[in-house]
Amino acid sequence: MILVKSPREIEVMRRAGAVVARFFEEVRPLILPGVSTWDLEVFADRFIARNGVRSAFKGYMGYPAHLCASINEEVVHGIPSKDRVVREGDILSIDFGIVREGFYGDSAMTFPVGAVNVVSSRLLAATERSLAAGISEVRPGNRLGDVSAAVQEAVEAEGFSVVRDFVGHGIGRSLHEDPQIPNFGKRGVGPKLMPGMILAIEPMVNAGGWPVEVLADGWTVVTRDRSRSAHFEHTVAVTEDGHRILSLP
Ligand code: MF3
Ligand code: CO
Repeated sequence: MILVKSPREIEVMRRAGAVVARFFEEVRPLILPGVSTWDLEVFADRFIARNGVRSAFKGYMGYPAHLCASINEEVVHGIPSKDRVVREGDILSIDFGIVREGFYGDSAMTFPVGAVNVVSSRLLAATERSLAAGISEVRPGNRLGDVSAAVQEAVEAEGFSVVRDFVGHGIGRSLHEDPQIPNFGKRGVGPKLMPGMILAIEPMVNAGGWPVEVLADGWTVVTRDRSRSAHFEHTVAVTEDGHRILSLP
């Protein structure tokens, strides 16, 4: 069952999303060669305390940190660690969520560390564009399949592949609500979008093939072919006249 939010609830979710967006603005300048993903976790811990919000991920299904920080061939759910230091040319996916006034905000972004190779910069641009293409299909009367297909088409037009084993999700008073939002699918199928639905759309895109595997830590998802992967996510409301991205400053 897809829960519909009232305009007042959407206003709270916009405030939650704004905190997440501010986190990304503040963390961006810290992503330099030599920084460890643990350093970024420490920053996130202070950010959460300073903003009087709650961590969305820490403790979720036993996940041990505020952030997911995934480097290069890591797709999602990389656990911050002092041993994971980024170098010039790496790409770093950060996924961050919080709870504010009972509602969740969730967003992700992949950053280049200094200058990156051509495939990596194309991968980041294509993934971000695929999220924009999916969001552009969010309006009342469209179906979820229209969103999924738009993401997939944008990715595959660039010769990259969409991860099949992890998907986006509805979001609200829980981090994960119905519906699941695959980044692949067919136009014209799936639930009809209605004002008040809130969607976390999050394409995970591999430079090589789509298969992924989970490492022995039980969390870190990597591409099976060890090609690089990127991840962009926004929390998006369906409005009367289209959509509104809630995870913006
Ligand atoms: N954005 C991811 C999601 O919505 C982050 C979850 S990480 C977890 O699924 F650790 F909390 F599971
Ligand atoms: Co999410």
